[in-house]
Amino acid sequence: MSYQNILVNPQVRPYVALIQLNRPKELNALNLELMGELRDALKALDADEQVRVIVMTGNERAFAAGADIKQMAGRNAIDMLKIDQFTTWDQIKKTKKPVIAAVSGFALGGGCELVMTCDMVIASETAQFGQPEIKIGVMPGAGGTQRLPRAVGKVNAMEMALTGRFISAEKAYALGLVNKVVPVELYLEEAFKLASEIAQLSPIAVRLAKESVLKSFETGLSEGLEFERKNFYMLFATEDQKEGMAAFIEKRAPDFKNR
Ligand code: HXC
Repeated sequence: MSYQNILVNPQVRPYVALIQLNRPKELNALNLELMGELRDALKALDADEQVRVIVMTGNERAFAAGADIKQMAGRNAIDMLKIDQFTTWDQIKKTKKPVIAAVSGFALGGGCELVMTCDMVIASETAQFGQPEIKIGVMPGAGGTQRLPRAVGKVNAMEMALTGRFISAEKAYALGLVNKVVPVELYLEEAFKLASEIAQLSPIAVRLAKESVLKSFETGLSEGLEFERKNFYMLFATEDQKEGMAAFIEKRAPDFKNR
Protein backbone atom coordinates (compact mmCIF):
# COMPACT_ATOMS: atom_id res chain seq x y z
CA MET A 1 0.00 0.00 0.00
CA SER A 2 1.28 3.50 -0.68
CA TYR A 3 0.66 6.32 1.75
CA GLN A 4 1.04 10.09 1.41
CA ASN A 5 1.14 11.14 5.07
CA ILE A 6 2.90 8.29 6.83
CA LEU A 7 5.88 6.03 6.15
CA VAL A 8 5.60 2.34 6.91
CA ASN A 9 8.44 -0.15 7.30
CA PRO A 10 6.90 -3.55 8.06
CA GLN A 11 10.24 -5.03 9.14
CA VAL A 12 12.43 -2.39 10.76
CA ARG A 13 13.77 -5.14 13.05
CA PRO A 14 12.84 -8.84 13.04
CA TYR A 15 9.07 -9.00 13.72
CA VAL A 16 8.97 -5.25 14.47
CA ALA A 17 7.22 -2.72 12.21
CA LEU A 18 7.61 1.04 12.20
CA ILE A 19 4.99 3.65 11.33
CA GLN A 20 6.28 7.20 11.02
CA LEU A 21 3.86 10.12 10.91
CA ASN A 22 5.16 12.20 8.05
CA ARG A 23 3.85 15.75 7.70
CA PRO A 24 6.99 17.41 9.07
CA LYS A 25 6.20 20.96 7.83
CA GLU A 26 2.92 20.88 9.77
CA LEU A 27 4.49 19.25 12.85
CA ASN A 28 2.63 16.07 11.89
CA ALA A 29 -0.76 17.72 12.42
CA LEU A 30 -3.29 14.90 12.27
CA ASN A 31 -5.52 15.64 9.30
CA LEU A 32 -8.26 13.23 8.29
CA GLU A 33 -6.15 11.78 5.49
CA LEU A 34 -3.27 10.94 7.84
CA MET A 35 -5.60 9.34 10.36
CA GLY A 36 -7.23 7.23 7.64
CA GLU A 37 -3.82 6.03 6.47
CA LEU A 38 -2.80 5.30 10.04
CA ARG A 39 -5.94 3.18 10.53
CA ASP A 40 -5.27 1.28 7.28
CA ALA A 41 -1.60 0.70 8.11
CA LEU A 42 -2.35 -0.57 11.61
CA LYS A 43 -4.99 -2.92 10.24
CA ALA A 44 -2.58 -4.29 7.62
CA LEU A 45 0.26 -4.73 10.14
CA ASP A 46 -2.12 -6.35 12.61
CA ALA A 47 -2.91 -8.98 9.95
CA ASP A 48 0.74 -9.53 8.92
CA GLU A 49 2.17 -12.75 10.42
CA GLN A 50 5.69 -11.33 10.15
CA VAL A 51 4.84 -8.45 12.49
CA ARG A 52 4.56 -8.93 16.23
CA VAL A 53 5.05 -5.42 17.61
CA ILE A 54 4.45 -1.99 16.06
CA VAL A 55 6.41 1.17 16.86
CA MET A 56 4.73 4.50 16.08
CA THR A 57 6.81 7.65 15.86
CA GLY A 58 6.98 11.16 14.41
CA ASN A 59 10.24 13.02 14.03
CA GLU A 60 12.64 14.75 16.39
CA ARG A 61 10.66 18.02 16.46
CA ALA A 62 7.18 16.59 16.78
CA PHE A 63 5.37 13.34 17.39
CA ALA A 64 2.22 15.27 16.44
CA ALA A 65 1.05 18.81 17.32
CA GLY A 66 -2.60 17.79 17.38
CA ALA A 67 -5.50 17.58 15.00
CA ASP A 68 -5.08 19.78 11.93
CA ILE A 69 -6.47 23.12 13.10
CA LYS A 70 -6.51 24.54 9.56
CA GLN A 71 -8.65 21.63 8.38
CA MET A 72 -11.07 21.96 11.32
CA ALA A 73 -11.30 25.74 11.66
CA GLY A 74 -14.24 26.39 9.31
CA ARG A 75 -16.34 23.40 10.26
CA ASN A 76 -19.61 23.48 12.17
CA ALA A 77 -21.01 20.86 14.53
CA ILE A 78 -22.98 19.10 11.80
CA ASP A 79 -19.90 18.91 9.54
CA MET A 80 -18.00 17.34 12.44
CA LEU A 81 -20.84 14.91 13.13
CA LYS A 82 -21.05 13.84 9.49
CA ILE A 83 -17.29 13.43 9.14
CA ASP A 84 -17.39 11.33 12.33
CA GLN A 85 -13.62 11.13 12.54
CA PHE A 86 -13.69 9.19 15.78
CA THR A 87 -14.79 6.03 13.98
CA THR A 88 -11.22 6.01 12.67
CA TRP A 89 -9.87 6.42 16.20
CA ASP A 90 -12.13 3.59 17.41
CA GLN A 91 -10.65 1.32 14.75
CA ILE A 92 -7.10 2.32 15.71
CA LYS A 93 -7.93 1.40 19.29
CA LYS A 94 -8.78 -2.13 18.17
CA THR A 95 -5.21 -2.99 17.12
CA LYS A 96 -4.41 -6.33 18.74
CA LYS A 97 -0.64 -6.24 18.58
CA PRO A 98 1.29 -4.07 21.02
CA VAL A 99 1.91 -0.54 19.79
CA ILE A 100 4.81 1.42 21.29
CA ALA A 101 4.91 5.19 20.85
CA ALA A 102 8.40 6.66 20.40
CA VAL A 103 7.95 10.34 21.17
CA SER A 104 10.23 13.29 20.60
CA GLY A 105 9.21 16.95 20.62
CA PHE A 106 5.55 17.94 20.66
CA ALA A 107 2.80 15.46 21.53
CA LEU A 108 -0.14 17.83 21.83
CA GLY A 109 -3.91 17.61 21.63
CA GLY A 110 -4.77 14.72 19.32
CA GLY A 111 -1.03 13.92 19.33
CA CYS A 112 -1.06 13.35 23.08
CA GLU A 113 -4.31 11.40 22.71
CA LEU A 114 -2.74 9.23 20.01
CA VAL A 115 0.18 8.51 22.34
CA MET A 116 -2.35 7.40 24.95
CA THR A 117 -3.99 4.95 22.53
CA CYS A 118 -0.57 3.25 22.32
CA ASP A 119 0.33 0.59 24.87
CA MET A 120 3.73 1.83 25.98
CA VAL A 121 5.64 5.06 25.52
CA ILE A 122 9.35 5.80 25.14
CA ALA A 123 10.09 9.52 25.25
CA SER A 124 13.11 11.58 24.35
CA GLU A 125 14.24 14.19 26.89
CA THR A 126 12.85 16.84 24.53
CA ALA A 127 9.32 15.46 24.47
CA GLN A 128 6.48 17.73 25.61
CA PHE A 129 2.95 16.54 26.27
CA GLY A 130 -0.15 18.66 26.47
CA GLN A 131 -3.84 19.09 25.79
CA PRO A 132 -3.89 22.71 24.58
CA GLU A 133 -7.31 22.52 22.87
CA ILE A 134 -8.74 24.79 25.57
CA LYS A 135 -6.58 27.62 24.21
CA ILE A 136 -8.32 27.45 20.83
CA GLY A 137 -11.80 27.39 22.30
CA VAL A 138 -12.47 23.68 22.35
CA MET A 139 -11.48 20.70 24.49
CA PRO A 140 -9.93 17.25 24.02
CA GLY A 141 -12.08 15.06 21.79
CA ALA A 142 -10.13 11.85 21.22
CA GLY A 143 -9.85 10.55 24.76
CA GLY A 144 -7.91 13.32 26.51
CA THR A 145 -10.48 13.78 29.26
CA GLN A 146 -10.79 10.01 29.79
CA ARG A 147 -7.40 8.38 29.23
CA LEU A 148 -5.36 11.22 30.72
CA PRO A 149 -6.92 11.08 34.22
CA ARG A 150 -6.55 7.29 34.15
CA ALA A 151 -2.85 7.77 33.38
CA VAL A 152 -1.88 10.77 35.51
CA GLY A 153 -4.75 11.22 38.00
CA LYS A 154 -7.52 13.78 38.28
CA VAL A 155 -5.68 16.91 39.38
CA ASN A 156 -2.92 16.60 36.81
CA ALA A 157 -5.39 15.87 34.02
CA MET A 158 -7.49 18.85 35.12
CA GLU A 159 -4.45 21.13 35.07
CA MET A 160 -3.46 20.00 31.60
CA ALA A 161 -6.97 20.08 30.09
CA LEU A 162 -8.08 23.33 31.76
CA THR A 163 -4.91 25.41 31.27
CA GLY A 164 -3.43 23.84 28.15
CA ARG A 165 -0.01 23.82 29.86
CA PHE A 166 2.57 21.40 28.51
CA ILE A 167 4.47 18.96 30.69
CA SER A 168 8.06 17.86 30.13
CA ALA A 169 9.17 14.30 29.44
CA GLU A 170 10.58 14.13 32.95
CA LYS A 171 7.25 15.14 34.49
CA ALA A 172 5.36 12.78 32.16
CA TYR A 173 7.58 9.99 33.48
CA ALA A 174 7.00 11.00 37.09
CA LEU A 175 3.22 10.99 36.48
CA GLY A 176 3.19 7.60 34.75
CA LEU A 177 2.40 8.77 31.24
CA VAL A 178 5.60 7.33 29.75
CA ASN A 179 7.67 4.22 30.46
CA LYS A 180 11.13 5.68 30.02
CA VAL A 181 12.91 8.89 29.08
CA VAL A 182 16.17 8.73 27.14
CA PRO A 183 18.44 11.21 25.33
CA VAL A 184 17.00 12.33 22.00
CA GLU A 185 19.46 10.32 19.90
CA LEU A 186 18.29 7.12 21.60
CA TYR A 187 14.50 7.29 21.76
CA LEU A 188 13.80 5.32 18.62
CA GLU A 189 16.45 2.71 19.35
CA GLU A 190 15.08 2.31 22.88
CA ALA A 191 11.59 1.74 21.45
CA PHE A 192 12.98 -0.88 19.06
CA LYS A 193 14.74 -2.57 21.99
CA LEU A 194 11.49 -2.79 23.94
CA ALA A 195 9.62 -3.97 20.82
CA SER A 196 12.23 -6.66 20.06
CA GLU A 197 12.07 -7.99 23.60
CA ILE A 198 8.29 -8.42 23.32
CA ALA A 199 8.62 -9.81 19.75
CA GLN A 200 10.56 -12.79 21.12
CA LEU A 201 7.67 -13.88 23.31
CA SER A 202 4.60 -15.89 22.38
CA PRO A 203 2.47 -13.55 20.23
CA ILE A 204 -0.73 -15.22 21.40
CA ALA A 205 0.17 -14.75 25.05
CA VAL A 206 1.17 -11.14 24.35
CA ARG A 207 -2.12 -10.52 22.54
CA LEU A 208 -4.26 -11.90 25.35
CA ALA A 209 -2.20 -10.12 28.02
CA LYS A 210 -2.68 -6.80 26.19
CA GLU A 211 -6.39 -7.47 25.84
CA SER A 212 -6.66 -8.28 29.54
CA VAL A 213 -4.81 -5.17 30.71
CA LEU A 214 -7.01 -2.99 28.49
CA LYS A 215 -10.08 -4.73 29.90
CA SER A 216 -9.16 -3.44 33.35
CA PHE A 217 -10.05 0.07 32.17
CA GLU A 218 -13.53 -1.02 31.14
CA THR A 219 -14.73 -3.29 33.97
CA GLY A 220 -15.08 -3.74 37.68
CA LEU A 221 -12.56 -5.99 39.47
CA SER A 222 -14.57 -9.23 39.60
CA GLU A 223 -15.54 -9.09 35.96
CA GLY A 224 -11.96 -8.18 35.01
CA LEU A 225 -10.54 -11.08 37.01
CA GLU A 226 -13.01 -13.43 35.31
CA PHE A 227 -11.92 -12.16 31.91
CA GLU A 228 -8.24 -12.56 32.85
CA ARG A 229 -8.85 -16.12 34.05
CA LYS A 230 -10.52 -17.18 30.79
CA ASN A 231 -7.61 -15.80 28.78
CA PHE A 232 -5.15 -17.53 31.13
CA TYR A 233 -6.95 -20.88 30.66
CA MET A 234 -7.09 -20.35 26.90
CA LEU A 235 -3.31 -20.09 26.70
CA PHE A 236 -3.06 -23.70 27.88
CA ALA A 237 -4.51 -24.62 24.48
CA THR A 238 -1.40 -23.26 22.73
CA GLU A 239 1.78 -25.01 21.63
CA ASP A 240 3.61 -21.93 22.85
CA GLN A 241 2.56 -22.70 26.44
CA LYS A 242 3.92 -26.25 26.16
CA GLU A 243 7.12 -24.93 24.55
CA GLY A 244 7.60 -22.11 27.07
CA MET A 245 7.20 -24.32 30.11
CA ALA A 246 9.26 -27.20 28.60
CA ALA A 247 12.06 -24.76 27.75
CA PHE A 248 12.09 -23.50 31.34
CA ILE A 249 12.33 -27.03 32.74
CA GLU A 250 14.99 -28.05 30.19
CA LYS A 251 16.96 -24.85 30.88
CA ARG A 252 16.98 -23.67 27.26
CA ALA A 253 15.59 -20.70 25.32
CA PRO A 254 12.00 -21.18 24.10
CA ASP A 255 11.15 -21.15 20.41
CA PHE A 256 7.65 -19.70 20.16
CA LYS A 257 5.67 -20.50 17.03
CA ASN A 258 2.57 -18.31 17.47
CA ARG A 259 0.40 -21.44 17.66
C1 HXC B 1 -2.29 22.65 11.81
C2 HXC B 1 -0.24 23.16 12.68
C3 HXC B 1 -0.58 22.59 13.93
C4 HXC B 1 -1.88 22.02 14.05
C5 HXC B 1 1.41 23.34 14.06
N1 HXC B 1 1.02 23.61 12.82
N2 HXC B 1 0.46 22.72 14.76
N3 HXC B 1 -1.07 23.20 11.64
N4 HXC B 1 -2.69 22.09 12.96
N5 HXC B 1 -2.30 21.42 15.17
C6 HXC B 1 1.77 24.27 11.75
C7 HXC B 1 1.87 25.77 12.00
O1 HXC B 1 0.71 26.43 11.53
C8 HXC B 1 3.09 26.11 11.17
O2 HXC B 1 2.73 26.17 9.80
C9 HXC B 1 3.97 24.89 11.35
O3 HXC B 1 3.11 23.83 11.74
C10 HXC B 1 5.04 25.08 12.43
O4 HXC B 1 4.39 25.50 13.62
P1 HXC B 1 4.80 26.83 14.44
O5 HXC B 1 3.64 27.24 15.23
O6 HXC B 1 5.37 27.86 13.50
O7 HXC B 1 5.96 26.25 15.34
P2 HXC B 1 6.38 26.72 16.80
O8 HXC B 1 6.41 28.23 16.89
O9 HXC B 1 7.63 25.94 17.11
O10 HXC B 1 5.20 26.24 17.76
C11 HXC B 1 4.95 24.85 17.91
C12 HXC B 1 3.59 24.62 18.63
C13 HXC B 1 2.47 25.39 17.89
C14 HXC B 1 3.68 25.08 20.08
C15 HXC B 1 3.34 23.10 18.62
O11 HXC B 1 2.53 25.06 16.49
C16 HXC B 1 1.10 25.06 18.38
O12 HXC B 1 0.68 25.54 19.38
N6 HXC B 1 0.38 24.24 17.59
C17 HXC B 1 -1.00 23.92 17.88
C18 HXC B 1 -1.12 22.96 19.05
C19 HXC B 1 -2.58 22.66 19.37
O13 HXC B 1 -3.35 23.54 19.70
N7 HXC B 1 -2.95 21.39 19.25
C20 HXC B 1 -4.34 20.95 19.49
C21 HXC B 1 -5.14 20.97 18.22
S1 HXC B 1 -6.82 20.53 18.49
P3 HXC B 1 3.02 27.51 8.91
O14 HXC B 1 2.46 27.14 7.57
O15 HXC B 1 2.34 28.62 9.60
O16 HXC B 1 4.51 27.62 8.94
C22 HXC B 1 -6.81 18.87 18.68
C23 HXC B 1 -8.15 18.19 18.90
C24 HXC B 1 -7.99 16.70 19.02
O17 HXC B 1 -5.81 18.22 18.64
C25 HXC B 1 -9.32 15.98 18.95
C26 HXC B 1 -9.63 15.45 17.60
C27 HXC B 1 -8.70 14.44 17.04
